[in-house]
Amino acid sequence: MIPAGTSLGEARRIAADRLAEAGIDEAASEARLLLRLATGRDPALPGAAADSCLDADEAASASTMVARRLAREPVARIIGTGAFHGLDLALNAACLIPRDDTEALVAAALDLLPARGPARILDLGVGPGTVLLALLSERPEATGLGIDLSAEALDAARDNARTHGLADRAVFAQGCWTEGLAASYDLIVSNPPYIPAADCDRLAPEVALHDPRLALDGGADGLDAYRAVFTGAGQVLNPGGCVAVEIGIGQAPDVARIARACGFRLARLVSDLAGIPRALVFTGR
Ligand SMILES: C[S@@+](CC[C@H](N)C(=O)[O-])C[C@H]1O[C@@H](n2cnc3c(N)ncnc32)[C@H](O)[C@@H]1O
Repeated sequence: MIPAGTSLGEARRIAADRLAEAGIDEAASEARLLLRLATGRDPALPGAAADSCLDADEAASASTMVARRLAREPVARIIGTGAFHGLDLALNAACLIPRDDTEALVAAALDLLPARGPARILDLGVGPGTVLLALLSERPEATGLGIDLSAEALDAARDNARTHGLADRAVFAQGCWTEGLAASYDLIVSNPPYIPAADCDRLAPEVALHDPRLALDGGADGLDAYRAVFTGAGQVLNPGGCVAVEIGIGQAPDVARIARACGFRLARLVSDLAGIPRALVFTGR
C-alpha cells in the first residue's frame, strides 16, 4: 500500500485517502498518528520530516497499521494503549478499550472515597485496571482488589499497576464476580458487560469485531452481571459501604430494581458528558 521510498508527507496523504474512502471519520488525524508510530517522525510538522523517505521497514509497518485500521481495528488497539483518567493503559486482546463514559463511574466513586485515610476498594470486572487504577491514583491511602474472569486482562492490569507505581496497593485475582471472596470492602465498583447478547453483533465494527465479547455481552437482557454483582455484594461489603456501577443507556430502572431486590437503595445517579445516566450509586443494608 505504501511503497518504500515514499516521502512521509505523501505516505500520510495515501493513508488518509484510504481511511477516508473506507468511511473512517478521523481519517486525517489517524493517518498522522499511524505514520508517526510507524516511523517515529511526525508527518504534519513542517520541514525536513515530511520530505524524508520511508525505508522498507517503516513502509511495511505503516502499511500494516493502515490495513489493520481499514479492517476497523481501533487505533488504541493497534497502538496497544488507551488513555483513561490521565493514565496510559497497556491493552491486550482481552481488554476493553477504556471509554470516556466510564469517567462518570470514577467521578461517582471518588465522591464516596475520603481524600485521605484508608479505604478498601473492590473492582469487579477490572479489565486492564481502568477504574481501580484511576481511583488509586487519586486516593493515595486506598488499596484495591481487581477481579476479572479473564487471566489475560489481569496480566495487562498488573502491568499497568506497575507502570503507574500502584502495584503495592493493587492486587488482582481471577474469579467470577464475588465468588469465593471473604474479605470486606468499603466500596465496590463495577463496569460489567451490559449489552444485550442479540445487540452485540449490531455494534460498530470497531466494537463488535475487536472488543472482547466477554467485556460486552450481558446476557439476554444485558442485566446478567448486575444480578450476580448485587447478589454477592452484601457478603463482601462493610457496614455503611456503597456499590457504584456503570450502566448502559436506559438501564437505570432495571438495575435499581435488581439492586433493591438484593437489599440496596439507590442513592445517586451520575450522567456522562453527553447527559446520559451512566453511573448509579447504591447504599447497603
Ligand atoms: C465492560 S468491561 C470493563 C473493563 C474495565 N473495568 C473498564 O471499565 O473499562 C467488563 C469486564 O468484566 C469482565 N468479566 C466478564 N464476565 C465476568 C465475570 N463473570 N466475572 C468477573 N469479570 C467478568 C470482562 O472480562 C471485562 O474485563
